[in-house]
Amino acid sequence: MNVTFEDIKKNERIMQLVNKANENLGIIGYTEHGARHVNYIATIAGRILAGLDYPSERVELARIAGLVHDVGNMFNRKYHSLTGSVILFEELQKIGMDFDDVCDICSAVGSHDEEIGAPVSDLSAALIIADKVDAYKARVRKESYSLAGIHDRINLSIYETHVTVNKEKKQIVWEMRMKDHATPMEFMEIYFSRMRMCEKSAEFLGCRFKLVINGLVMNQLGEER
Ligand SMILES: [Fe+2]
Ligand SMILES: [Fe+2]
Repeated sequence: MNVTFEDIKKNERIMQLVNKANENLGIIGYTEHGARHVNYIATIAGRILAGLDYPSERVELARIAGLVHDVGNMFNRKYHSLTGSVILFEELQKIGMDFDDVCDICSAVGSHDEEIGAPVSDLSAALIIADKVDAYKARVRKESYSLAGIHDRINLSIYETHVTVNKEKKQIVWEMRMKDHATPMEFMEIYFSRMRMCEKSAEFLGCRFKLVINGLVMNQLGEER
């Protein structure tokens, strides 16, 4: 690979796309999708592949995919995974990225949305899990949040979140704690399909996805802990 995570982070055009996408989503009432979100996704996607001993190039590409995955929201929320991959297909070639890497990143970005996506590669599986587990109080936009909205209530309620990879047990674990504004039942109501997508993605990586809310394992039988 010839273009690094730091190169992309310093690329003004791409970071402008990230910021514009986030601004547009703010205007139509979505939670934070800006620098905090994409850097967190980059970190977690990289950590997942690193924790499973993938080569450092794949870890770096997963981090890049995390950083750029939501740029399609600059066009429209609907089908943003597809529009994002089309934008990136041009932009990443413009900066001279190896064509193989461009294709891998665009496949991962194009497959990350739960409405139309599914894991198609190691990068894609890591990106999906990282993206779907970013529920946290910091995602609520302080200037415009509403406790009438279930997404804001759920995010606001999550005050602790940890993703760990256990290579020996072949487990990717999301452990989080929530209180005050929303219940685990409400979380499951909104996040069920995303959690299923995490399970499929973990399977793609030869692992199981374990969801733990307030200390309770939500998706495994008691004896499998
Ligand atoms: Fe997205
Ligand atoms: Fe995202």
